[in-house]
Amino acid sequence: MSQSIIVECRGIKKTFESGGTITTALRGVDLSVNQGEFFMLVGPSGCGKTTFISVIAGILTPDEGVCHVHNKSYADLSKKALLSFRSKEIGFIFQAFNLIPSLSVAENVAIPLIIQGHPTEKALGQARTILMDVGLQDKTEMPPSRLSGGQQQRVAIARALIHSPSLVICDEPTSALDHESGQMILTLMKEMSRRVRTTFVIVTHDPRIFTYADRIAHMDDGRITKIETQEESHHVL
Ligand SMILES: Nc1ncnc2c1ncn2[C@@H]1O[C@H](COP(=O)(O)OP(=O)(O)O)[C@@H](O)[C@H]1O
Ligand SMILES: [Mg+2]
Repeated sequence: MSQSIIVECRGIKKTFESGGTITTALRGVDLSVNQGEFFMLVGPSGCGKTTFISVIAGILTPDEGVCHVHNKSYADLSKKALLSFRSKEIGFIFQAFNLIPSLSVAENVAIPLIIQGHPTEKALGQARTILMDVGLQDKTEMPPSRLSGGQQQRVAIARALIHSPSLVICDEPTSALDHESGQMILTLMKEMSRRVRTTFVIVTHDPRIFTYADRIAHMDDGRITKIETQEESHHVL
């Protein structure tokens, strides 16, 4: 069986203009990611990583180039169809946790299911289960403000995974985590990618998690300069 490609980007270019200054963030990026792959993206600050994954997530529209996810081009979808596609198929873990302070931890985690129309009690039950997986079973009824940064990161991760998206996009998911929590989260993600063939695209600076990657793409100044497989990266990183 041939591997199916889940993310296919060709010639992605993106320029920002702010206060009269033009910044070219992406200078023509090509990338294909296979279903079930654990893919990492590394590179210096400002090289375009967040911009690129925002394009993959359908949050940012490129100036040029095409991005297909599951053979669908974002450019061809209506706004409503794009929102619905994203809420079903994509999970996000961004650097800012974006937890809602007035909701409990479990309620925050349940949001993606509630958006999709699942009954609240059932959604909260599933939220408590996945919170157990990330080691937060005793925090489910607290407001997020009572948790440490690392614990809030784990809540954000549980929220990104609860609806079993086929593609999970993460920006520095372990940056606020201690070593043990980072390993716990990566093990959970890796298990998902094996068991239900969830695809992960992870921006990271954390060399402790490189060993989990199937492939690592290096970005510099708006371009992908090199893609290594796990075997190759052992010698370099
Ligand atoms: N909304 C924006 N407005 C203006 N410039 C931006 C914006 N977003 C990103 N940039 C610029 O684009 C470049 C790439 O940014 P980014 O994708 O955030 O890099 P990275 O995630 O690799 O640190 C940087 O020079 C950054 O300042
Ligand atoms: Mg960034």
